Amino acid sequence: MAGGLPLGRVFTTRARAQDVQSPPVTPFAAGFRVPPPILPTETTATADIYDVTMRPALAQILPGLSTPVWTYNGTMPGPTFHSRRGRTVIVRQRNALAVPTAVHLHGANVARESDGHPEDVIPPGAARTYTYPGLNAASTLWYHDHAIHRTGTNVYMGLAGMFIVSDDHEQSLPLPRPPFDVPLIIQDRLFAPDGQLVHPVHDPTRPLRQGIFGDVILVNGVPMPFMRVARRRYRFRMLNGSDARVYRLSLSSGDPMTVIGSDGGLLAAPVQTTSLVLAMAERYEVVIDFSRYPLGRSVVLRNSPGGDVGDEVDPARVSQVMRFDVVEDAVDTSSIPAQLATLPSLDPAQAVRTRDWRFERNGGQWVINGKPWEAARIDARPAFQSLEIWRFTNGGGGWVHPIHPHLVEFRLLDRTGRPLNAYERGMKDVVFLGPNETTRAIMRFGDFRGRYPIHCHNLGHEDNDMMAQFEVV
Ligand code: C2O
Ligand code: CU
Ligand code: CU
Repeated sequence: MAGGLPLGRVFTTRARAQDVQSPPVTPFAAGFRVPPPILPTETTATADIYDVTMRPALAQILPGLSTPVWTYNGTMPGPTFHSRRGRTVIVRQRNALAVPTAVHLHGANVARESDGHPEDVIPPGAARTYTYPGLNAASTLWYHDHAIHRTGTNVYMGLAGMFIVSDDHEQSLPLPRPPFDVPLIIQDRLFAPDGQLVHPVHDPTRPLRQGIFGDVILVNGVPMPFMRVARRRYRFRMLNGSDARVYRLSLSSGDPMTVIGSDGGLLAAPVQTTSLVLAMAERYEVVIDFSRYPLGRSVVLRNSPGGDVGDEVDPARVSQVMRFDVVEDAVDTSSIPAQLATLPSLDPAQAVRTRDWRFERNGGQWVINGKPWEAARIDARPAFQSLEIWRFTNGGGGWVHPIHPHLVEFRLLDRTGRPLNAYERGMKDVVFLGPNETTRAIMRFGDFRGRYPIHCHNLGHEDNDMMAQFEVV
């Protein structure tokens, strides 16, 4: 593999992963579906109140097999939330699983008590109410488990779902609307012959955890589905909900996709790309125009594994994500405006300081600035509402790290070695650090004081213990 140490090498899962190969799955044999929407239990003038139970369930994922999963309200992925900027969302989460959980709304501008901080666990049998104040602009957020040292396992077992925010501005644009506005939660999984998910248990004698690579790609919980589409534009909200896999997506037709949004919402202007890198926890909203294809044509959403985002799974098993089958004509009144949004101007000249965050492996441990996670330690104290530049450096070794601070959204300023992709210039909450790269991001700490984590979103890295904490003071 080019570019140094492959991601799939030095890890305790390797022994397991090489013993286990998922049962063969025929691509494009299963029909596409979207996760069900969740309906509020109660609606007031200003808030929507939801009840969710985290509980075990049996999922039919592979043909003829049942897979035990952990779910929000019985489905994997969890149900999709639809919220509106300015409205408060209250979610009462009850833990009916046998393990501790914590629910994090990834990308939310939220008070610390409702952040799903990894130390704020919900013990089995207990409940917790999370309040989301509706401060985010229209965007594709996602919710997932965040319990300390168990996040990887909990998410892998099924605890993740999408949370869509809309707002007046976005709704005024002529973009494709439901049912042509479609969530795509992309996750890889490894299955035992009996259908169970394979995930290594924590082994304290071998603390170096690399994350797990599956050999079956699921979209919304369905292995490599086919989707019947009409000859028109679709808006796809792509989320990488995988543990360790980075996707490099393209269309088999070679045609460009139009990126209209990233983690934090709409881009300033649409960006055409034939190849899109989607690292763990990143979201990109992409418009694909199927009107350019004749009826009967199929287009595959492909993944190009390998390179510096590689692993040891047979590339042939993970190079197809899903297939679009063009089956009907359509009248399409949607369009993509040349201007999508006005992004906050974050002027580097106004930044009050620059901080350095270095992500690396040190003495067999994943560390940030040389240190593993420690709940009592605070590594940075940005002032309330101040503007800072954070410089994220990948300390090397051939690893890649998608870095995610809670609470704040940022804009990327630059990256060493290679330019930023045009689609990375919107509002982000995850930055992908390739081998040896340094990327600078500018962010304003607004709205809430308190302690929030920053971590690598390779969940094997995060759990073992590539996570630190900052406090907005
Ligand atoms: Cu997606 Cu700390 O999380
Ligand atoms: Cu987050
Ligand atoms: Cu990492």
